[in-house]
Amino acid sequence: MSYDLVVIGTGPGGYVCAIRAAQLGLRTAVVEKRATHGGTCLNVGCIPSKALLHASEAFEDAGKHFADLGVIVGSPKLDLAKMMAFKDEGVAGNTKGVEFLLKKNKVDAFHGTARIAGAGRVEVISEDGGNRIIETRNIVIATGSDVAKLPGVTIDERIVVSSTGALALGQVPKKLVVIGAGVIGLELGSVWRRLGAEVTVVEYLDRVLPGMDGEVGKQFQRILEKQGIVFRLSSKVTGVDVGKKGAAVSVEPAAGGESETIQADVVLVAIGRTPYTEGLGLETVGVQTDSKGRIQTDSHYATNVTGIYAIGDVIAGPMLAHKAEDEGVAVAEILAGQSGHLNYGVIPNVVYTFPEVASVGRTEEELKKDGVAYNAGKFPFTANGRAKVNHTTDGFVKILADAKTDRVLGVHIVGADAGNLIAELAVAMEFGASAEDVARTCHAHPTLTEAVKEAALAVSKRAIHV
Ligand code: FAD
Ligand code: NAI
Repeated sequence: MSYDLVVIGTGPGGYVCAIRAAQLGLRTAVVEKRATHGGTCLNVGCIPSKALLHASEAFEDAGKHFADLGVIVGSPKLDLAKMMAFKDEGVAGNTKGVEFLLKKNKVDAFHGTARIAGAGRVEVISEDGGNRIIETRNIVIATGSDVAKLPGVTIDERIVVSSTGALALGQVPKKLVVIGAGVIGLELGSVWRRLGAEVTVVEYLDRVLPGMDGEVGKQFQRILEKQGIVFRLSSKVTGVDVGKKGAAVSVEPAAGGESETIQADVVLVAIGRTPYTEGLGLETVGVQTDSKGRIQTDSHYATNVTGIYAIGDVIAGPMLAHKAEDEGVAVAEILAGQSGHLNYGVIPNVVYTFPEVASVGRTEEELKKDGVAYNAGKFPFTANGRAKVNHTTDGFVKILADAKTDRVLGVHIVGADAGNLIAELAVAMEFGASAEDVARTCHAHPTLTEAVKEAALAVSKRAIHV
């Protein structure tokens, strides 16, 4: 069998790349070692976590907020097995959807572990040990990432879990210790807190969500604390002793000092993810990786070996599904002779807690560090009519615009539906819009988007509602 392109891995990067390549007339195949398509994102990442965030938010709303609206439902009961079935149904619907799309676009799908056997040769080893060789002009590696391990801590997916185990717990832990105040820790910490767990988050750095705008991080931490999450910042976990019923987590100040023990029923390790290249045979063909194990590519996603490309979590850049997807499209277009491209300055980043956190572009810290003069316009949701009536007044919109040109350089939002609100700013930034452009665009009333318009007005100190 001979193809123009074989894509290894059918996560958001791989399956989107294959479909785009097929649309452009390339004879395309994919190889996936999981039983289902969709990669980390659809199987054990974005989709199941959002299903549990949605369901647990509904549970909390029913218990804590419905009565304020005059909706009396009594004390809601949790049927965790049913909630997990709801999540699994969502995952199955999505993974089957990818299978359908691959078929519809006439992409051949092989199940098994791919190993690059040489230039233009991919060996597929199936679960029963059988193997076959597929020949191809080009290979795109889209093998994604895996959970980063904490030295000395064994993940058993029962008491010490990764995100995968935390998405499938059989009962609500009384005490959950989360290691890492990043995206996974805060999203899944929120899920289990809403369902009744006491959640303590231990974070090495002195802030939550490192990399995001500092003001956003501070306000978001306060909001989560109000919700009941306890933070132990500037602290490191030095060991986890697993017993019959739970674990004793040893924590000490990051700078060193006395150690103390926190008891937990479940410990979630969420300290990042690492690129996944195991068994691919990169060393056989000489594909170069960097010090973090990421496959090195040029601006066209080409590795140092002719005909081998890489995209998604396995290369540098934010580990986000939409970044992987857009790289998939770009590399397919490049392979078809077009000029595929992705603007890395405008990749939105969303944390799907309540409220949500969303950002695009540069943070205030980055602008200060780079010596860029900017104006900041900020508008709180307490002053937005729709947020007021919905009782979702936590948070704000902050727009950072170039002091000279007024061009939007970054936007940071904490608030209900921030993940949807950020989209208009990503479009604005793609088109090189100024804060004035956003401010002069008519936004529907009453919507949360008016807070975006007001923040844009605030850049030139003329917000109306504050
Ligand atoms: P992956 O999705 O990891 O897919 C790689 C695929 O390659 C896998 O299916 C794997 O089985 C397969 N594979 C690996 N090696 C081989 C081989 N040798 N042969 C055959 N197949 C192979 N991102 C967001 O943007 N939004 C979110 O809300 C979000 N939530 C997340 C929640 C969690 C809990 C986690 C863990 C991640 C989340 N992410 C989210 C990150 C997102 O899942 C990744 O950025 C995205 O999946 C990366 O896509 P990818 O195609 O590069 O790799
Ligand atoms: P992360 O990089 O977001 O956060 C890891 C956190 O752990 C950091 O705050 C880090 O300082 C801390 N940490 C590292 N070592 C530590 C230690 N020894 N002790 C205590 N704290 C320590 O990684 P996370 O949350 O595991 O997520 C992995 C990736 O998955 C992210 O890169 C993210 O892009 C992606 N993801 C995206 C989501 C989204 O877009 N909504 C949701 C979930 C994951």
